[in-house]
Amino acid sequence: MCNSPFVVRSETMSFTEYFKKAKRLRLFEPSIRILGFFFVTVCVIFCFFLLNYRSVTTRFSSQKERFLWLRFDGGNGTESRKKVEYLSENDGGCDVFEGDWVWDDSYPLYQSRNCSFLDGGFKCSENGRPDFFYTKWRWQPKDCNLPRFDGKIMLEKLRNKRLVFVGDSIGRNQWESLLCMLSSAILNKDSIYEVNGNPITKHKGFLVFKFMEYNCTVEYYRAPFLVLQSRPPAKVSSKIKTTLKLDQMDWTSMKWKDADVLVFNTGHWWNYEKTIRGGCYFQEGSEVKMEMRVESAYQKSLETVVEWIHRKVNTTKTQVFFRTYAPVHFRGGDWKSGGTCHLETLPELGSSFVPSHTWAQYSIFADVMSSQRKELDLRTLNVTHMSARRKDGHSSLYYLGPKVGPAPLHRQDCSHWCLPGAPDAWNELLYVLLLKHNSKKSTNSSTFHAQAV
Ligand SMILES: *[C@@H]1O[C@H](CO)[C@@H](O)[C@H](O)[C@H]1NC(C)=O
Ligand SMILES: *[C@@H]1O[C@H](CO)[C@@H](O)[C@H](O)[C@H]1NC(C)=O
Ligand SMILES: *[C@@H]1O[C@H](CO)[C@@H](O)[C@H](O)[C@H]1NC(C)=O
Ligand SMILES: *[C@@H]1O[C@H](CO)[C@@H](O)[C@H](O)[C@H]1NC(C)=O
Ligand SMILES: *[C@@H]1O[C@H](CO)[C@@H](O)[C@H](O)[C@H]1NC(C)=O
Ligand SMILES: *[C@@H]1O[C@H](CO)[C@@H](O)[C@H](O)[C@H]1NC(C)=O
Repeated sequence: MCNSPFVVRSETMSFTEYFKKAKRLRLFEPSIRILGFFFVTVCVIFCFFLLNYRSVTTRFSSQKERFLWLRFDGGNGTESRKKVEYLSENDGGCDVFEGDWVWDDSYPLYQSRNCSFLDGGFKCSENGRPDFFYTKWRWQPKDCNLPRFDGKIMLEKLRNKRLVFVGDSIGRNQWESLLCMLSSAILNKDSIYEVNGNPITKHKGFLVFKFMEYNCTVEYYRAPFLVLQSRPPAKVSSKIKTTLKLDQMDWTSMKWKDADVLVFNTGHWWNYEKTIRGGCYFQEGSEVKMEMRVESAYQKSLETVVEWIHRKVNTTKTQVFFRTYAPVHFRGGDWKSGGTCHLETLPELGSSFVPSHTWAQYSIFADVMSSQRKELDLRTLNVTHMSARRKDGHSSLYYLGPKVGPAPLHRQDCSHWCLPGAPDAWNELLYVLLLKHNSKKSTNSSTFHAQAV
């Protein structure tokens, strides 16, 4: 797993590039000094801001631009404003997944204490997390600007529709983020309810939240493998407790096949620990494949999902998204051997270090997609790279609830994300992709703006 060619390639490339750059700079000694001076200045200002956060905030009229200016414009405060709007007709093919995290004082989009649709485990600040920087970062694409998220517009798009998340608990993380983002646009919170009256906390299976005024539902189905996990065939070895049917979708698929928007994710359960070690083997047809490795099983399951969409989903009606693997950030171990992330309070603003198994999970997906995407109306929520920089965004010690207090240092959660936090940005991207899709569909692009107001 650790020998993913993906990692080796990208590391080599960035090193040679860096080396070449360094050589080029040597030819221009004076510019190095200028650059050095600029760099030091930026560092000093940056530290100054961090240390004096509260006193500084009053001094800047346009705080929103503060970090933006430092990070991107190279001293030219106007550039960011000149970027094209992603939703305009001429977006220049902007890749919204390429960009940077910028400090934005107008964030977060909601407060966890104002949102009753959150598992205790995601409310980091309420659970004692002392820093709040992690709530203040906005995703800024490199080549375009995004509109600010507006829950009312999104709900209007979803009127009489179903939006469904299917996947593991990181998908649930994203689903709860969206519930909070949307519900902050609704005054009467009682008009939002779980249709079966189930509570949100520690619930397994599925949950369907209805926004009454809009007659729309935002649903979550727990299906960490996406494919079917069930009893093994008769007369197999007793060490086989369950099998994953790599060629069949999860049994809940009949419930969400006809949703209007489907957002899949998977990956965090595709490892030895959560499968073979617990007696869960892989099955194709009627045959249990005792020797099959997790990576091949993962790839086969993704192929099954893609094929299922192809055969069973009416993609004229249903918009299908696949959210890519959300990176974990355990340092010095993994979840069971004392890995940590609780000291991270800032994103990685340059390149990102991510444990290589993230890239293995990601690149298996990328391989399957690159061979399939052309024929499919399946879009990627390509969050892996952007989230890789958010080592500051995880629950770490603060997932136990306000009354229990921080977890022991060696039992950290560096997989799930604090809310508000990084998953909000995934949903902001989902939002613009949905709006973009609608504006493309109508022959007259002003339709969107007309509906927006
Ligand atoms: C800075 O802004 C000016 C106009 O406001 C623009 O002409 C110029 O290209 C910008 N410089 C850079 C480095 O982007
Ligand atoms: C995802 O985004 C990253 C960063 O922009 C890019 O390098 C990568 O090719 C994208 N992958 C897919 C499958 O779109
Ligand atoms: C949270 O709720 C309080 C009162 O209930 C309100 O004053 C505040 O503006 C809310 N904050 C946000 C971000 O919605
Ligand atoms: C509410 O939405 C559902 C689809 O989720 C639709 O079948 C139903 O007709 C809608 N009801 C009304 C009153 O529009
Ligand atoms: C697919 O959905 C569209 C839009 O709802 C509908 O008009 C069409 O009849 C559907 N096609 C099939 C094969 O059900
Ligand atoms: C788009 O629609 C609006 C109103 O529906 C109309 O005024 C405008 O002329 C249309 N634009 C184009 C390019 O068709």
